[in-house]
Amino acid sequence: MTRRKLIAGNWKMNGSLAALAELDGIAAAAAAAPGIDVAVAVPATLIAPAHARAPNLAIGAEDVHQDDDGAHTGCVSAGMVREAGAAFTIVGHSERRSDQHETSHDVYLKAATAHRHGLKVILCVGETQQERDAGRAAHIVRAQTEESLPDDAHGDWLTVAYEPCWAIGTGRTPTMDEIAAIHAIIRAKLQQMIGDGASDMRILYGGSANPANAAEILALENVDGALVGGASLTADKFVPIIQAAKALSA
Ligand code: PGA
Repeated sequence: MTRRKLIAGNWKMNGSLAALAELDGIAAAAAAAPGIDVAVAVPATLIAPAHARAPNLAIGAEDVHQDDDGAHTGCVSAGMVREAGAAFTIVGHSERRSDQHETSHDVYLKAATAHRHGLKVILCVGETQQERDAGRAAHIVRAQTEESLPDDAHGDWLTVAYEPCWAIGTGRTPTMDEIAAIHAIIRAKLQQMIGDGASDMRILYGGSANPANAAEILALENVDGALVGGASLTADKFVPIIQAAKALSA
């Protein structure tokens, strides 16, 4: 089966109402690339204004709580971000796993809750530098996939993102062989877990993806798109990545 490429931005704790002007160029590039999907995850406070500014662009959240509601000061629920206009959420980003000590079981619960509230899900996995140096990258990625993937996961609503922690925001990327190897490992793990459905599930690469390396990365087998942090903050960097995916999907 052919998996449509997905180019997803992740603004992290960046952006402002003024910065939403960047969405104009991003939305125009997305509209000009009907063969691929484009999405941008923004801070919770920007979801509603981003959705209002770019109603045809998939706007998402960067995280949601695993509970529907309750006494969780400072947290935001899946229902809330959905109501604000989010079409999807990221879960399990390595910055949440490290800064907020989220476990794969938390991520599993978050993904299931998000789906129940009608959100699509980008579920992140990836090893640390220490784990890679110790030769444990494959093991970590397999384990995180196994423990984080919800039971009824389906490619219609869930996308996996491989993001080696040491490549995030560092300007360093794995070699093409290293990316292809881990993506093949994730595909095999998905096959083991969900059978034939695994071939419908997209696997994104994330970690210092930029206009210069996007075409090469996106052409790799089992790389179905990119999750882009820094280079998604401005249209001048994000649009060329969208165009690289478009060219490969023509
Ligand atoms: P980066 O971030 O593109 O800035 O490395 C990617 C991510 O964390 O999703």
